[in-house]
Amino acid sequence: MKGARTTSISICCMFILLLENSQAETKWQNKTRSPAIIVFGDSIVDPGNNNAIATMVKCNFAPYGQDFPGGQATGRFSNGKIPSDIMASNLGIKQYVPAYLGTELSAFDILTGVSFASGGSGYDPLTSELVTLYATYFIYLIQQAISMTQQLNLFKEYKQKLKEIAGEKRANAIISKSLYSVITGTDDLANTYFSTPFRSVEYDLPSYIKFVVQCASSFLQELYHLGARKVAVAGVSPIGCLPSQRSLAGGIERECVTRYNEAALMLNSVLAKEIQRLNYTLPGSEFLFVDMYDTLLDMIQHPNAYGFEEVAKGCCGTGIFEVTLTCNRFTAGVCEDVSKYLFWDVYHPTERGYEIMIQKLQTKYSPFFN
Ligand SMILES: *[C@@H]1O[C@H](CO)[C@@H](O)[C@H](O)[C@H]1NC(C)=O
Ligand SMILES: *[C@@H]1O[C@H](CO)[C@@H](O)[C@H](O)[C@H]1NC(C)=O
Repeated sequence: MKGARTTSISICCMFILLLENSQAETKWQNKTRSPAIIVFGDSIVDPGNNNAIATMVKCNFAPYGQDFPGGQATGRFSNGKIPSDIMASNLGIKQYVPAYLGTELSAFDILTGVSFASGGSGYDPLTSELVTLYATYFIYLIQQAISMTQQLNLFKEYKQKLKEIAGEKRANAIISKSLYSVITGTDDLANTYFSTPFRSVEYDLPSYIKFVVQCASSFLQELYHLGARKVAVAGVSPIGCLPSQRSLAGGIERECVTRYNEAALMLNSVLAKEIQRLNYTLPGSEFLFVDMYDTLLDMIQHPNAYGFEEVAKGCCGTGIFEVTLTCNRFTAGVCEDVSKYLFWDVYHPTERGYEIMIQKLQTKYSPFFN
């Protein structure tokens, strides 16, 4: 009797073990799936790196994260998931891409990828040094974000950790086969160029854009030299239609600011050309320019088609100026139904907005993402 029971238990355990092993194997043997996702950029893909640095660009407090599991304010600049999480989920890698800084990372976290992104960062090194608070119009000139160069330094540190966990050979395979995602540039235009005088006295718009794209190109080449091969680089969004820019420069009607949108289009076309050039000149590379502009603008221009009722204001507070420090538990609450809002605060889409946007982009560029 006793013997029989032990046998049946161990057979059962063996079966579970076999099942687990075969699932793990297929996962690793599935050559079409990226083993990891590695993310660089700004607040669109920062899952909480800014929690670990001295900055005013923070959001690790309510109501941020109200729709994240446990209502946790992780430092993600939204009510729930952000694009890096959604991409990783859709690609079957994992549900959440953790911040590299400020949390205890497990071996699984390291093996499947992290985000180095930092809210307030941009390709222009000056962008991560300043922040404009819409509520006060003050400009602060102290380091506020982890610059793109510093993000690459953190990536070098990460590669070391990956080697310790996976061994040199497997680590190299993960580095070269992973999907890299770079999302930044919006703050260069919206904050640095249009909201402060520092660059606009020095550069006219076309020469500033040329400078930003040169910074982007150096970043991407360095990333390539560190082992990245498959890199999706997002362009900037229609910044003139962000609720923040509507409030600052859209007049009484808070309309989209045409000249900001035109600047975004100009930056995107120069950046897209440079990325295509890198794609053809760096051997073995797969660089893709991902156009967020059209996708987001379509959602803004046809809200009903997506089930949105408000696309000009954020859900947090009045929706006219609240972002980061000014969107907190003491502001006048949040909107009743966040699923009807495209924007969570005056700068960042809601989880639902991001879900729709990423789904559309992954479909549009499906040969690359599959
Ligand atoms: C491999 O991964 C891709 C992308 O996630 C998926 O579509 C495909 O079904 C997977 N194949 C196997 C055999 O698991
Ligand atoms: C990138 O270059 C490869 C050839 O190396 C080409 O097949 C692919 O279409 C290019 N992708 C883009 C987006 O230009």
